[in-house]
Amino acid sequence: MEKVKIFDTTLRDGEQTPRVSLNVSDKIQIAKQLERLGVDIIEAGFPISSDGDFEAVKAVSEAVENVTVCALARCNKKDIDRAAEALQNAKHPRIHVFIATSDIHLEYKLKMSKEQCVNKAVEMVKYAKSLVDDIQFSAEDASRSNPDFLVEIFEKVIEAGATTINVPDTVGYAQNEEYYNLIDYVIKNTKNSDKVTFSVHCHDDLGIATANALAGVKAGARQIECTINGIGERAGNSSLEEVAMILDTRANYYNVSTNIDTTQIYKTSKLISAITGVSIAKNKSVVGENCFLHESGIHQDGILKNRETYEIMNPDKIGIPKSDGLILGKHSGRHAFVAFLKHHGFEMSEEEINENFIKFKELTDSKKYVTIDDITSLVGRLPYNENYKFHSYTSSNNNDGTATVYLNISHGDNLITKRAVGNGQVDAAFKALNSIVKRDIEVLNFEINAVSSLSDALGEAKVKLKLDDQEISTSGLDLDIIKASILAYVQGINKFGI
Ligand code: KIV
Ligand code: ZN
Repeated sequence: MEKVKIFDTTLRDGEQTPRVSLNVSDKIQIAKQLERLGVDIIEAGFPISSDGDFEAVKAVSEAVENVTVCALARCNKKDIDRAAEALQNAKHPRIHVFIATSDIHLEYKLKMSKEQCVNKAVEMVKYAKSLVDDIQFSAEDASRSNPDFLVEIFEKVIEAGATTINVPDTVGYAQNEEYYNLIDYVIKNTKNSDKVTFSVHCHDDLGIATANALAGVKAGARQIECTINGIGERAGNSSLEEVAMILDTRANYYNVSTNIDTTQIYKTSKLISAITGVSIAKNKSVVGENCFLHESGIHQDGILKNRETYEIMNPDKIGIPKSDGLILGKHSGRHAFVAFLKHHGFEMSEEEINENFIKFKELTDSKKYVTIDDITSLVGRLPYNENYKFHSYTSSNNNDGTATVYLNISHGDNLITKRAVGNGQVDAAFKALNSIVKRDIEVLNFEINAVSSLSDALGEAKVKLKLDDQEISTSGLDLDIIKASILAYVQGINKFGI
């Protein structure tokens, strides 16, 4: 199967997400994970845009080994020099030179004729090529540009040394067939198109960025530009996890493959969400919380008999931690109720199950979703003993961005005190708790929400924890959100029966 290169632009276009700003250490951490994920190219930033971005591209260039590191530059020498300088220590550097080609951008933004645009592009691609061998050229707003003008400029920049030609749908305007036709047209009509890689870069303004990118692949593009969780300018870009799982799940349709290690997808998605603060919608394809949950009784019955009745992907393949995949609600049947009880370690006779199933059905008339805590009180059994109890804590923020927490926890008659340092107070407190119980509990998910919209709202911390093969979700409520987080974690420790 032919390979499609995955060009990840989370650190460049992704950083253009409104209200997102990544510092050097964020970018290093993300770049290392992207390398583990198996992307071919990391677009690390736009070095001329700020000293911070320059330093970040430089640091990423030094932090990764096997992946190409790309830096963005407009068609001018200053941008290109800064990009080349930032990439100096990259093992595989690429400069990405772009200029807009649509009439509206030429007239209003660049105030340039088409001829001036071509000359500038050719001159700057030649200049970039004198500094770095791997040159990508992008025709910004290509989908609203004249296709014959694109052919003309592409032919000339290929002659000047560009090795990748990117055809962006910058404003997310193109429809699927139009984008397919555009890519097909430029590949078929550009001289020497077979000597370069054609690339797609689609925005999600109308919600079809991923579909458009894949239409481009069908038409012959062999590089896809995308971001983790689809973040990016305005409505974002094609999302990497969707692209990778579509090409994997429907390899029979696309006949191409990627170098992505799909088992790293979930972890990467969570990392990007945590660092950028951009949360993942529950129903987000591939990585959303609801993707492998089944609520309807008919679906649950099918899943229990054979998962493929209602799942086209295996969550293991995406690296999603195991769960029973069932969510109990008003549409759940007896079969799912029994499976849920079993999964959470309740053993019951047939008679007890029948009795509790009636109570469960009554409960779902008044409550849409039923949690493990509801079931616990419903069946009248405690899932855990309160072995550990929160006593008090103090904390301080350190100059290097870390925090120190002193935590007092009671265990029977003993008061245990532990000090820990972490990335913020919550992280430090969780580390202290792990060292108190001497177990390596992993945090799979952590959320804080205000219970009302007033400034004195109670904070609710929700945490999903994993210990060996067991996963549990707990919550804590307090005016102090650090304390709420600690309460949730302590409850988790007790639920694990430590
Ligand atoms: O959307 C776009 O056109 C871009 C270019 C810089 C490739 O992000
Ligand atoms: Zn873009």
